Amino acid sequence: MKKIGLFYSHSTVKTAQIARKILQEFSDEEVEAVNLDEAWDDEFNKFDNFILGTATWFDGELPDHWDEIIPKINTIKFRGKKVAIFGLGDQKNYPDNFVDGIGLLAKVFEEIGAQIVGYTSTEGYTYGHSVAERDGQFCGLAIDFENQSRKSNERVKSWVEQLRREFV
Ligand SMILES: Cc1cc2nc3c(=O)[nH]c(=O)nc-3n(C[C@H](O)[C@H](O)[C@H](O)COP(=O)(O)O)c2cc1C
Repeated sequence: MKKIGLFYSHSTVKTAQIARKILQEFSDEEVEAVNLDEAWDDEFNKFDNFILGTATWFDGELPDHWDEIIPKINTIKFRGKKVAIFGLGDQKNYPDNFVDGIGLLAKVFEEIGAQIVGYTSTEGYTYGHSVAERDGQFCGLAIDFENQSRKSNERVKSWVEQLRREFV
């Protein structure tokens, strides 16, 4: 398996917590964490496999740190690269925008040629609408700290096993 770049903002609280769990599940040789707050083009060019972390903020939008870097990402070629996205959200308080950030990021990276991997089942979540949902699946891993924190470890564990198969 080629080395994976794990991109997330180190200044976030819950997204960073999940990123650290993902890191623990992989070995140091497999994954390198990159702080999105300091990431430049060369870091995006360095990997073929990516894990991206985002929360959903502002009722269905990406956090500022992603929004600010997207114009830069739009100039990079991602054809042949694989991208898996995990997203934090709150299905009880934001049922009509649950983990929209996953779907928004997936669209950005697909538009520059990436293949999105790491789809998961929507079973076990209760919400109305999500931009992350495609044909009954999330196009990434949805984590809800506010309402289902006890399920997070298991969800991360099985997603990492899945990514080991899907990243080659
Ligand atoms: C102002 C505000 C808006 C939010 N909007 C959404 C939303 O639209 N959809 C969603 O699923 N979660 C939403 N959330 C929940 C956050 O995504 C969730 O609390 C997440 O765990 C925050 O992660 P962070 O600490 O890494 O920023 C919102 C939270 C706040 C405070």
